[in-house]
Amino acid sequence: MCGIVAYIGPKDASPFLLEGLQRLEYRGYDSAGVAVIAPATKSVPAKLKVCKVKGRVADLAAALPARFKGGAGIGHTRWATHGVPSDANAHPHTDNEGRIAVVHNGIIENADELRAKLAADGALFRSETDTEVLAHLIAAHRADGGELEDAVRAALKLVVGTYGIAVLDAEQTDRIVVARNGSPIVLGIGEKEMFAASDVSALVRYTRQVVHLEDGELATVRADGFRTFTEDARTVTRQPSTVDWEIGSYDTGGYAHYLLKEIHEQPGAVERTLSGRLDERFSTAHLGGLNLDARELREIRRVKILGCGSAYYAGEMGAQLIEELARIPAHSEPASEFRYRNPVIEADTLYVAVSQSGETYDTLAAVQEIKRKGGRVLGVVNTVGSAIARECDGGIYLHAGPEISVASTKAFTSTVVAFALLALHFGRIHDLSPADGRRIVAALKALPEQIRDMLGQEREIEKLAAEYAQSQGMMFIGRVRGYPVAREGAQKLKEISYVHAEAYPASELKHGPLALISPELPTVALVPDDELLDKNLTALGEIKARSGRVLAIAHRPIEARLADHCVVVPKSEPELDPLLLNIPLQLLAYHAAVALDRDVDKPRNLAKSVTVE
Ligand code: G6P
Repeated sequence: MCGIVAYIGPKDASPFLLEGLQRLEYRGYDSAGVAVIAPATKSVPAKLKVCKVKGRVADLAAALPARFKGGAGIGHTRWATHGVPSDANAHPHTDNEGRIAVVHNGIIENADELRAKLAADGALFRSETDTEVLAHLIAAHRADGGELEDAVRAALKLVVGTYGIAVLDAEQTDRIVVARNGSPIVLGIGEKEMFAASDVSALVRYTRQVVHLEDGELATVRADGFRTFTEDARTVTRQPSTVDWEIGSYDTGGYAHYLLKEIHEQPGAVERTLSGRLDERFSTAHLGGLNLDARELREIRRVKILGCGSAYYAGEMGAQLIEELARIPAHSEPASEFRYRNPVIEADTLYVAVSQSGETYDTLAAVQEIKRKGGRVLGVVNTVGSAIARECDGGIYLHAGPEISVASTKAFTSTVVAFALLALHFGRIHDLSPADGRRIVAALKALPEQIRDMLGQEREIEKLAAEYAQSQGMMFIGRVRGYPVAREGAQKLKEISYVHAEAYPASELKHGPLALISPELPTVALVPDDELLDKNLTALGEIKARSGRVLAIAHRPIEARLADHCVVVPKSEPELDPLLLNIPLQLLAYHAAVALDRDVDKPRNLAKSVTVE
């Protein structure tokens, strides 16, 4: 959601803070701000300087005064939750005297109550945010002197909610205090300088040595090192680890946008998801992280998959794979709905949480609810060590590499591949024959090359996208395996191009949406060459008879009578076809968004990791 950066060392903090914020901007981008401690001179004591603006990091850079210098600083890029995007609501927030500055990710649930108490004691609130409460609360605990970290600990004890924070104090200029509870904080270790951020992507340019704080932990960060401790002041030892993702993973690498780069990274991402997991001898998948043996897996009667947005749609494809290959009833549901309906948790159901970031609050809350009721949850997660990954009993890491663009593409595809592995593994424990296992193993191995082939058609899809982007809206239809593809395709188009898009099962057309069909509302139709081909062709006939335009995504050319355009997709095994049928829809959405001059990587009103309810 929002992004945090912090620096302390001999250099000027601002260039790192701005560069780091730019890297984190994908997480939230409606306002940005920085604070530094200007060092004391003979006549003037050290002083906090704050600059914050509504808008992008580039607007902040433009607004930054030339003399904004200091060797300790914190920064933030925001996605509004409490209060509209505005200069005043942008972080950092300060206390009355402008001595303590705080940047914060997460939500303080008892902010109203704390605000009333602090205001009664004289705190002057200048924003509508929950974060400002923290600045005043820490200042109140610093009033009696003592150490900044003790004041932060004392303040956090009064707080209910989630946070990742970084705190500066103009009277203790040799340190930054950070804390984590539900929102990630990573320390970066440099040469006589230290960094901190909410995400390693802000750090990799400066250091590969990082320390991930755990929930409930704080750290004092000084130029020459750090100390981690708990909210009860107990020191904890944290060993640094080395970031293994390539620095290049965080750049656009010559592509116009992260989204396009990530679409093109899919063959490699799929290879990594599959790597070391195909067992050709037994025609199955080897999944070391499940923490469930064959006997335990046999006891599972149902699979319930939970995720939000594209993760939920990937879960729908996953549910179909599990039903088809393992013949175990499986269903995907938005985690955001599940957690609010007092779900029935059954001992013989396997719950699977899907999340690229591993941070999505609704998905995390769903996992916690299942665990609280004694259920068993696996995670299908991209970000190693993320909150959801840690909360689950086991799972499958995607290894898709960092995904920066808000709209999910490579993580989506890798998630479906991970489900195919899970379904294969499950299937081979149940009744999937060795021959069918071999068929799926071979098809999985062929996927990276088939995705490459598909991406080779980008220029033609680009032309189609420019044409279809001019429509007032688009319908996406698919049947059974094609329906989740239609849903994800519509989601991708609407979120990045803002063209209204609706997905329907092809079978439901005549029960309502056919009324919308006209030359102004074209239909993207998923027409795989499977046992439902004839039914799908009939649906195309129904649309054409109402003067609707059709763009078919198919395994062989569709006659002009039934489709105005056709994109031909390489054929896999029927169970895996949805994954390949989705690739042209990513390119269609991307090029439609470019044709309409949209902010492809940062669509309006959205954020990458939604860490709020
Ligand atoms: C947000 C993003 C979506 C993403 C969803 C789930 O809504 O805009 O692109 O699919 O969160 O994210 P996760 O990190 O849990 O997969």
